[in-house]
Order: sequence, then C-alpha cells, then structure tokens
Amino acid sequence: MLQCMLTRMQCNAPRGRSFTTMSKISPHKLAFFSSNPFLALTYDDVRLRTKANPASPLPHVIDTSGRFSRNVPLKVPFVSAAMDTVTTSAMGIAMARFGGLGVIHAGLGPEDQRREVRRVKLYMNGVVDKPIVVRDSDRVDQVLKMCDENAFEFRTFPVINASGKFVGLVTQNDFDFCLDLDKTIEEIMTPIEKAITRNKQLSLQEAHDIMAEHKVKTLPILGKDGTVSKLFLFSDAKRIIDSATKSNVDGNGRLYTAAAVPTDDEAVERVRLMKDYLDVAVLDSADGDSFYAFETLKKLKAEFPNLDVVVGNVSEGSSALLLAEAGADGIKIGQGPGSICTTRIETGIGMPQVTAVWDSFSKLQAGKFDIPIIADGGIRNHGDISIAVAVGAEAIMMGSMLAGTTEAPGEVMTMNDGTRVKSYRGMGSASALEESAASRKRYGATGGGKPLAEGVESLVPFKGDVADTLETCMKALVKSMRYCKAENLQAHRLHTELIQISGPGLAESHPHITTR
Ligand code: IMP
Repeated sequence: MLQCMLTRMQCNAPRGRSFTTMSKISPHKLAFFSSNPFLALTYDDVRLRTKANPASPLPHVIDTSGRFSRNVPLKVPFVSAAMDTVTTSAMGIAMARFGGLGVIHAGLGPEDQRREVRRVKLYMNGVVDKPIVVRDSDRVDQVLKMCDENAFEFRTFPVINASGKFVGLVTQNDFDFCLDLDKTIEEIMTPIEKAITRNKQLSLQEAHDIMAEHKVKTLPILGKDGTVSKLFLFSDAKRIIDSATKSNVDGNGRLYTAAAVPTDDEAVERVRLMKDYLDVAVLDSADGDSFYAFETLKKLKAEFPNLDVVVGNVSEGSSALLLAEAGADGIKIGQGPGSICTTRIETGIGMPQVTAVWDSFSKLQAGKFDIPIIADGGIRNHGDISIAVAVGAEAIMMGSMLAGTTEAPGEVMTMNDGTRVKSYRGMGSASALEESAASRKRYGATGGGKPLAEGVESLVPFKGDVADTLETCMKALVKSMRYCKAENLQAHRLHTELIQISGPGLAESHPHITTR
C-alpha cells in the first residue's frame, strides 16, 4: 500500500523532482551563507576546514563519481567548456576516456557538430548496430571497390542471401588470401555452419569472452528471423573492457557525448541531426533564464522526451528553481566568473561563483529537485574544484584549465622567446562574435551594428596532453577530500565546512617566501 502511494506521488511529481530524496543541505553552510545575505563570495574568499577522524580510516579509493545531468553520469566531476578553443571531438574523447565529459561547441555548423559528436560516440564502438553487410553473390572485386569508394578501413562483413538472411562471414584474411578477384563472396566466406554466432542479446563482457574462447575477431548476433542485428568487434571490446573502469561509457560501452545548442529553433534542428549519437544537449546562453531559454527547453523536451537537457547559464537560485520546474535535467551556473569573461565589467551583473553555486544548489535541494548543478568557469587553482563541489556542484566545467592542451583545437605557436602557446578566446570576444553566429546568439548580439563584446582573446601556454592536467586536478581533489575526511562527493557537500578568509589570509595561502 505504502509502495503504491509512493509510486503515485512520484508519478505526480514534476520531472526531476524526487519526493523520496531527503534534503541534503548542510546546516553549517546554511548558517554560513545566511549570516550575511548581502555578501557574495568567490573561490579566493573561502577555504575548506579540515576535520579530525578518530573513528575509522577513509576508504583507499575516494569516490568522485556524480552526474552531469539526471541520466548522464560522471566518474570524475570534470567537464570541458563548450568553446571553440576548447572542445571538439579530440577533447570530447579525452575527457570521456578520463571519466568526465566534453561539450562539443556550437560554433561549428550543424553538420560539422554532428560529425564531431559522432566521432566521440563511435570512438569506442564495441558493438555495431545494423552492420554493413555484403551479398553472397557479390564478386570480391566489387566488394573491394565498394570499400575503397567508402574509405572503409575494415574488411569484415556479415554475408546475407537474397532474402536478407545471414549465410556466412567474410573477413580481412579471406580477402588477403583470395587470388582470384572474380570469385563470389560465397566462395571465400566462412559459411554459417562454421561461423561463431549467437542469437541472443549479450553484454560486451559476454561477447568478449565468447570471441576470446573461439579466437574470433567478430561475433554476429542474429535475430529470430535469421537476419544480422549486431556485430561485436573483439579489438574494440577488449579496449573498452580494459579501460572501462576509468572511461565514462554508456550501456553499450560507448563514450558519453554532449553538445551545446543555441536557445532558439536551431536547437531542435541540431538535436534532430545529432540524436543518434547524443546523450545530453546543453542549452548554451549567457542569459540562461531568458524567455528564449525556457521556450527552447520546452520545445526540446516535447520532441525529445528521453534526451537530457542541461540549461545555463544562470547565477541565481530562483532562476535554477524555475528551470528545474520547466524540466531541465541539469543546471549550469556561472555568469561572469570565466577567465576570459568581461560580462560583469561591461554590464555590472553577476554573482560571485561560490555564492552562485550554493544559492542554486540549496534552492534546488529545498525544492526537492534531485538534478545536478554544474559550476561553470572561474577555476584558476586546483583547490577551487574542491570548493565548488563542497558548495553544491556535481560537475565542474573548465575552459582555461584545459585550453592550451594537445586536444584543444588550434595550432601550437612558438613565440620569439621560444615559449609555445595556443590561442584561448571567449565565445563573446570580438573575434568570436564576428566569426560565429552561435556566439552572437549566446550573447544575444543578433541585432544590427557592432555587437558588445563580453569576452577577451588570449594566448595560453602549451600544456601537452589534457590527461596530465586532469590527473593533477584529480589528485588535488582527492587530496582535498582526504583532508576534509569526505569519502565521496555527497559527503563533501554535506559535511565539509567553509571559512571566509581575509586578504592577508589569501596572501598567506599563496607562496610568499621573500628572496634576498
Ligand atoms: P574558465 O574556465 O574560467 O576559462 O571559464 C570558461 C567559461 O567561461 C565557459 O564555460 C563559459 O561559460 C564562459 N565563457 C566563455 N566565453 C565567454 C565570454 O566570452 N564571456 C563570458 N563568459 C564566457
């Protein structure tokens, strides 16, 4: 009976709201932030308090997993910014392989953005849905020509007969040892009686084990009607399983993907194009609580009810609450904290980031909305990440921290003094506004005349592989959580306490050795 009532309550609850989730607000932080409601703080204003733990040791492995959106998990809380000098497919792949997520920027044309999202999704493709097949009656030279024309790098195909049923498998070896290209595929293939196949759904691990046992590189899965429904690939399955504990992969072993879309009808068109490869759309606006943001969210949810939609950016808890009520699956916080941002200087708006994150997190918790907060921008020092988590962020979006790495788009340039740099620019900088319609939409600069720039362009040092930067971020976060005796992100949010520091306190925090 109770179960029945609970289920009914959950069904009637607004999307994302969970009546069964207990409020997870830290009483200390409530007191801390409400002690002066007219003061807003940012990372340099606060430090985290350490805690004694005489009771039991922390687990050997600190759990840093969380969510980017209601249904998209993260193994580490790091997300790369949707900026044209930060995230295309190379960064998306590297971020998800590290356990995080990359948001492919919207400055690309719709087809190009689809291609980049697809590259990330198919990078670890352990299973091919609806694989390309060849006919038993095709000639070998015809199939090889078809491979060349389509630039296929593989030569393994399930073979079907005239009625579409699986009759055998042809592989690279069969082509390599075929001396007469006029032969038919039927003459060189491994026939169904000798091929290893299965006719039930298998997990990636099960398929991997079967292929390893029989020493075969592919495993076709047949439907009840004898057609081929899927094809497992051993090399990919092995790569995925070997890195699965670390990578952020979906149920099919593919990397999670995200893409930024503008707050207008183009968002719907872009998602239509990308939907086969996309896990979460990020409605990307400098003014994330505008009429256009709410309208676009409504349209996306109506057409793609099963796709997560993250909305941003806002910096007030009241806005986060309205977006949650409107169906957002995650809310991105940050108006003005970005390293390349001039919004606050040009317009006078914007809440310092620590208070902005806390305000949204605490209001969502009070409203019993169990959706993640993403702290976007302003991470200058590794310790800022831990502070962002402690005040409510489940994910941390970073631009400058990841710009300048090998995976960030753009060339490495060598300066006169020999230092190597890459370009990093605000999406609201003058050049981005001039070049990119997406930037003009993000900053509402669609009227006539010269748009108001809300960002700057810069050069940042070349840093090498992004995995090295992420490794340092990770070590710093885990070390911080150890100091605070928090075994997971939730405990860090709930139990870690803050202290506001003074200017001299901040100076003391940085190296201050005096040299002679
Ligand atoms: P960073 O990590 O401090 O470099 O900040 C990156 C974030 O700044 C991005 O994820 C965006 O939310 C934001 N951003 C990007 N370009 C601009 C801009 O031109 N003006 C203001 N904010 C920007």
